[in-house]
Amino acid sequence: MKRVHNFSAGPATLPLQVLKKAEAELANYRGKGSSLIEMSHRGPEYTEINEQATARLKSILGADDDWEVLFLQGGASTQFMTVPHNFLNSSRGANYIDTGAWSAKAIKEARLFGDVHVSYSGKDGNYSHIPEGDELSFADDAMYTHFTSNNTIFGTQFRNEPDGGGAPLVCDASSDFLSRPLDLDKYGLIYAGAQKNLGPAGVTVVLVRKSFLEKQRTEAIPTIINYKTHINKLFNTPPVFAVYMVNYVLEWIEEKGGLNAFVKINDDKANLLYTEIDRDDFYRGTVEKAARSKMNVTFRLGSEELEKTFLAEAAKNDLVALKGHRSVGGIRASIYNACELSSVEALVTFMKEFRSKNG
Ligand SMILES: Cc1ncc(COP(=O)(O)O)c(C=O)c1O
Repeated sequence: MKRVHNFSAGPATLPLQVLKKAEAELANYRGKGSSLIEMSHRGPEYTEINEQATARLKSILGADDDWEVLFLQGGASTQFMTVPHNFLNSSRGANYIDTGAWSAKAIKEARLFGDVHVSYSGKDGNYSHIPEGDELSFADDAMYTHFTSNNTIFGTQFRNEPDGGGAPLVCDASSDFLSRPLDLDKYGLIYAGAQKNLGPAGVTVVLVRKSFLEKQRTEAIPTIINYKTHINKLFNTPPVFAVYMVNYVLEWIEEKGGLNAFVKINDDKANLLYTEIDRDDFYRGTVEKAARSKMNVTFRLGSEELEKTFLAEAAKNDLVALKGHRSVGGIRASIYNACELSSVEALVTFMKEFRSKNG
C-alpha cells in the first residue's frame, strides 16, 4: 500500500495503525454482524467507546473530577458562538487575544453576546508575533480570557499559557491539542476540532470545568447550545464514527508514552524543518522565531513562481498538501502528532535538493 507524506493542515494525516484497526472492524464490529456506525448510540458498544474515550482523554491530560468531557458537533466554529452564549450577556464581558484569523472569528461571535475587550491584536503586524507580559491588557471583571493556542494559518503558537489577567482561560486548541501537556489549573474551558491532532472531522472535543460552569449566565440558553444539556445526558445522536476514531487515536497516544513523549517527537520534527529553513535565505520563515509553531511550519521562497514549482515537484515526490492557506500563500507544512519523523526527513531532503537546483 502506498501512503504519501501528508502535510495537510486538516483534516490531517492519522496514525496508520488507527486506520487499519477501523478498516478491519468496519463491516463487522467485534463479531456483532454490523458496523459500529450502524448501531444505536445508546447501545453497549457505543457507550463503551464514549466512556473509554472520556477516561483516556482525562488521564492523558491529568484532568480530575472537576472536568467534564463532551464530544459535540458543529466544529470549533460553533464553539466561537457557544462559549459566549453560555457565559456572556449585556453586563458580562470577556478578554480576547487576537493572534490570527480564527481568533478574529471568535471575537466576531462573542461580540453578539457581550462586551469584548481585545487584550492584544496582531493584525497590523500580519499576525507574525505572539504577545507576552505587558503587551496584554485586561478588562476588570471579565468572565474569561480567550486565546488560540496555535494559529494554523499564520504558523504561530503560544509557548505556554498566556496570563489571563485574573480570569480563567478559554482556549481554542484546535490545531495543537494533545501535542504537549497543559497547565489545566489556568483553564475554565478548552475546545478543539478533532480533525488535526485527534481524529476525523465531525467531532469537537470540549473540556469544561464544573466550577467554571457554575458561573454560566442565568438568561435562557437554547437547549442544544447549553453545555449542561450534554453533561446531564447523551442528549442527541453524537458523531459516533468520529468518537470511535478519536478513542483509537487516544489509545495510540497512550502507547507512544503520552504527552511528554509527544513534546520530544514534535520538537524533533519542528527543529529539523526550521533548521533547514534557516540555513540561508533561499527559504524564509514568515513569523518571528520566538512565535514559531511546532504544528504548522510556514515559509516562503523567492517568488510565487518558484513556490509553484516547489509545490509541483514536491507532489511528484509524494510530498503533498504543502500549499499555504489561500489567504496568505506560500508554503505550509503541517506536522501534527501523526506526521512521522520520516515524512519530515523526506521533506527536508527534498528541500535541500530543490535549493541546490534552483538556488
Ligand atoms: C485554530 C482553529 N480554530 C478553529 C478552526 C475551525 O474549525 P472547524 O472547521 O472545525 O469549525 C480551525 C480550522 O482549521 C482552526 O485551525
